[in-house]
Amino acid sequence: MASEFPPGPRAPALVQLIQLGRDPFGFLRRAHRQCGDVFTVNLPSFPPAVYVAEPELVKQVFGGDARVFHAGEANASVLEPVVGPDSVLTLDEHEHMRQRKLLLPPFHGDAVRRYGEVIRDITDREIETWPVGEPFALRDRTQRITLDVILRAVFGVRDSARFTKAQVLVDEFVKRTHSIVMLPAMRRRFGRFSPMVRFERARDALDDFIYEEIASRRGETNADRDDVLSLLLRATHEDGAPMSERELRDELVTVIGAGHETTATGLAWAVERLVRNPRVLASARESIAAGEDEYLDAVVKETLRSRPVLSDVARKLTAPTEIGGYTLPAGTLVLPAILVIHHREDLYPDPLEFRPERFLEGQGGGFNWIPFGGGVRRCIGAAFAQYEMRIVLRAILSRTDLRAADPRPERMRLRNITMAPDHGARVVLSQPVAPAAELDAGETLAHASRAPERV
Ligand code: HEM
Repeated sequence: MASEFPPGPRAPALVQLIQLGRDPFGFLRRAHRQCGDVFTVNLPSFPPAVYVAEPELVKQVFGGDARVFHAGEANASVLEPVVGPDSVLTLDEHEHMRQRKLLLPPFHGDAVRRYGEVIRDITDREIETWPVGEPFALRDRTQRITLDVILRAVFGVRDSARFTKAQVLVDEFVKRTHSIVMLPAMRRRFGRFSPMVRFERARDALDDFIYEEIASRRGETNADRDDVLSLLLRATHEDGAPMSERELRDELVTVIGAGHETTATGLAWAVERLVRNPRVLASARESIAAGEDEYLDAVVKETLRSRPVLSDVARKLTAPTEIGGYTLPAGTLVLPAILVIHHREDLYPDPLEFRPERFLEGQGGGFNWIPFGGGVRRCIGAAFAQYEMRIVLRAILSRTDLRAADPRPERMRLRNITMAPDHGARVVLSQPVAPAAELDAGETLAHASRAPERV
């Protein structure tokens, strides 16, 4: 058995980072083609990153001992300045499960149903602001929708001025995280206009807002509220202890952050793909007109297959571990390569084609389709995100006539940690938006409960 790292691209670490950022698809697929199912990528300031691009190996990683495969430690190196040390994303083992158990119920398949009408209302209002006849970046618009949705889910609504304040604070916070997340070198403070100092200012302003909300909610006696903050305030750990202020802050920022940029990017990709695939677009419209949900569900799945929002997920080894014939030392990052697996010809024939039918024909089972990661770290918002994407797409497709601003496909580019369309999914609205239709709640809601939720 070999004890060295698997082969990988030979360019210097900084060059590999630039290539990965500019063209993650080309870079990772080339590495896979040249080096095989297990390959090593080197990036500045990170330990060696070993990608696994084969479903059985991914199963080994996702199903591995949580004491050995540390996702929290791996996430923390990138996300801790943003989400904090008490976030479900940055914790491991027992501490992680403690938080995860409290966060799961509000996002359970059945629980997300109650957001259907809110999502549809927010989308309808946003669509009506779109310009007719001139190109615009859809990604910015889907992000407005998903931010409003997640803020409503987290805080509920009472006071519209506070809601607007939350939108502004989160927008600024997200903008300031971009430069510091992927480049630890940018985390030095060199003057008040340095990215780190601006980021900290935005973070402190958002934190102040969140702590105020927590304090005012603690004083409330209304037991009927079912927003995420109210549910977490009522939740207790196994020993009966309530969540601390710090835990609450970190989980709320986690849910807001993880819950809106990702879904906004997924939605932008769905439209970017649909307007370039007229046959699929027509089938999606027909299925919506017929009141069906299966095809739309397949469109969402095919979008997340062909344009997964995250190219990979990471685990940091705490002990030497054998993977794919290599004994990897403690400290190595192991990354199930979502993007590469989703484009394996043997799992998805003609992988570059956008063909939702493949999901109706049974492709994409087990560890072949992993846009939400897996095992005890699988995305808590997976049911919520797919439900939201279906409702937003249903509204967009039934009310608007969009075309691509440029017929050439947009490339994937790293934006923060997500792979976004490089021009923001630019589209043109050909005609004024059609009047809003009633939400076909029965069909759409039925699907939410089918989404798998596991701990
Ligand atoms: C299309 C949208 C989304 C995608 C593609 C996505 C993807 C992911 C992925 C790949 C992970 C890491 C899983 C792993 O390490 O195995 C993750 C974790 C997580 N996601 Fe999502 N996500 C999306 C939407 C959401 C939403 C809407 C929420 C909240 C409502 C959310 C909350 C979380 C949380 C809290 C975690 C951490 C889970 C843990 O470490 O235990 N995500 N997500």
